[in-house]
Amino acid sequence: MFDSGIGGLSVLRALRAELPQEHFIYIADSGHAPYGERDEAHVLARSRAIARHLIGQDVKALVMACNTATAAAIDCLRADHPGLPLIGVEPALKPAVALSKTGRIGIMATRSTLASARFRALLASQAARASFVVQACDGLADAIERSAETGDTTETIALCAGYIRAIGQFRTKQGKIDTLVLGCTHYPFASVQLRDLLGPQVQIIDNGEAIARQTRRLVASAAANESGASSAAEGSVSLFTTGQPQALQAAASRWLGLTATVKTLYI
Ligand code: DGL
Repeated sequence: MFDSGIGGLSVLRALRAELPQEHFIYIADSGHAPYGERDEAHVLARSRAIARHLIGQDVKALVMACNTATAAAIDCLRADHPGLPLIGVEPALKPAVALSKTGRIGIMATRSTLASARFRALLASQAARASFVVQACDGLADAIERSAETGDTTETIALCAGYIRAIGQFRTKQGKIDTLVLGCTHYPFASVQLRDLLGPQVQIIDNGEAIARQTRRLVASAAANESGASSAAEGSVSLFTTGQPQALQAAASRWLGLTATVKTLYI
């Protein structure tokens, strides 16, 4: 699995709960981040390079634990590797529509995800069922990376407050926004700060658990077609980064209780 940085750890947390006996290889592409404010060609090239590297490690499935990479690259990676179970992450618009009572939904995501053809098609497919306010959250993923390292959430709180204000009035009353979709895997690590800003009633949706269930289904059906595929009694996590290890090391320990040493990758 990979992300531009530490955000995919929110997906790894759900994957470990769903598939406790699996071995996970996590790559943070921190040397080439953030993805969300880069062009699609950059994110596609990085996704291809990382996918090639992971497939070379004989993985049984690949999770793109990043909305921005999924939007830019999942179609190409599917075409490049047709036999590989490949799981992507997209902003959870359909679950939000199902949960919202007011029919008004806010979406926080990276600029690049929101500009992608894939997201625009998803939004158009749900447009008749609810009204959506989308907000590009420049700088938020980076602020969360820094907060993992320092423990200081001041910058995260200030950015979240500004973006929430820009989306509009959140409340469960008619005409107000009652549901917020976290369309970037970094943002669940700001959910405490977002909850403080939004109050207890507004629903905050991230889809880590849904991704984990989908991964379990795909891995199980691939294993059924392949004799000899087996899992160990106890799972494991290996952590890699293409940049500085500090943020991933701190985030893995702070938020997932992982002590494995982060190794540097040159890809
Ligand atoms: N975590 C990534 C996502 O889900 C994006 C962060 C970034 O901008 O690199 O979109």
